[in-house]
Amino acid sequence: MRLLAIETSCDETAAAVVEDGRRVLASSVASQIDLHRRYGGVVPELASRQHITAILPTIEAALAGAGTTLDGIDAIGVTYGPGLAGALLVGVNTAKAIAFARGLPLAGVNHLEGHIYSAWLGPGGPDEPLPPAPAFPLVCLIVSGGHTDLLLMTDHGRYRRLGRTLDDAAGEAFDKAARLLGLGYPGGPSIERAANSGRAEIFRLPRSWLGDSYDFSFSGLKTALLRLTEPYREAPERHAPQPDAPFPLHVPARLRRDAPVADLAAGFQAAVVDVLVEKTARAAAETGARCVILAGGVAANSLLRRRLADAVALPTYIPPLRYCTDNAAMIGAAAYFRLTAGERAGLDLDAVPNLPLIASAAAP
Ligand code: KG4
Ligand code: ZN
Repeated sequence: MRLLAIETSCDETAAAVVEDGRRVLASSVASQIDLHRRYGGVVPELASRQHITAILPTIEAALAGAGTTLDGIDAIGVTYGPGLAGALLVGVNTAKAIAFARGLPLAGVNHLEGHIYSAWLGPGGPDEPLPPAPAFPLVCLIVSGGHTDLLLMTDHGRYRRLGRTLDDAAGEAFDKAARLLGLGYPGGPSIERAANSGRAEIFRLPRSWLGDSYDFSFSGLKTALLRLTEPYREAPERHAPQPDAPFPLHVPARLRRDAPVADLAAGFQAAVVDVLVEKTARAAAETGARCVILAGGVAANSLLRRRLADAVALPTYIPPLRYCTDNAAMIGAAAYFRLTAGERAGLDLDAVPNLPLIASAAAP
């Protein structure tokens, strides 16, 4: 089954062609990072407008990359939540229009489930052999800009939450820490770059263990970082007003030249990674899991990837970087398993900005 998948939940317009849920024939991502950078974060209205401009060229690029046209597509998969309402609507309406016009089956995908299914994608090219699929039960750590969830997955589409963040998501913590350190947006990659030349042991930042629970908390870490940067802070400069800017411009923190930014970034990164790795490894050992999946944008972090693979005694599935941050190939994988389980979305499929992964009645 050849699926065309569409993802527009946040700031990437993405389309992909995926065969049988695992083989990526083409994956096309139009990033909006440059558009949002000067605001220091995603501006929802700008994101939806940009999705409208980019969606058809991105779909055409994916079809061309797969050497096919809509005639060669058997089904459509699309992210319908969670995410920004106006952004989700662009993908959902485009997917419904194609499904209706072509008489194709349609699957609505939860964005977080998409991140999990990035572990099913063959990491190589379309002609390379596929590695074995992840075996159930498995433990999955999803770490993105909006979520930090530790899950036990017992079968396709069946999840039990072991733990979650009580405050900031891990990616959000990276983004806020980068602002405090006067580093660029998005924060994760810029913290990682700065940390590469820093010493993690210079500043011992707090780890929030929360007893034996599998929950996470990153707000104390952020406050500790704020305290450590205070002595180096300069008065914020005002940016010259820009007449074409519809929103106040982001004024990053200015730290004095002698601020130990690299050491602070390394200390912060180590504190986040320590807790994520320790709790995931313990969950893997305590739940009888057969493998571990690391997913979401923060899974692009090389220290986290390395440390998790070392700490877990089970096989680990850590997708290549292009399938960690938002993409449509992962949506194609999740949509395939929904469709083969007999699920079909109707043309009344709508964007659900706060769509939960686990229906509340089924939550532990
Ligand atoms: O999954 P994603 O692309 O979008 C959401 O669904 O939220 O995740 C984006 C998040 C951002 O917070 C970004 O700072 C973080 O992933 N991120 C990283 C790295 N690359 C992206 N965090 C740490 N290290 C990285 N290398
Ligand atoms: Zn995401």
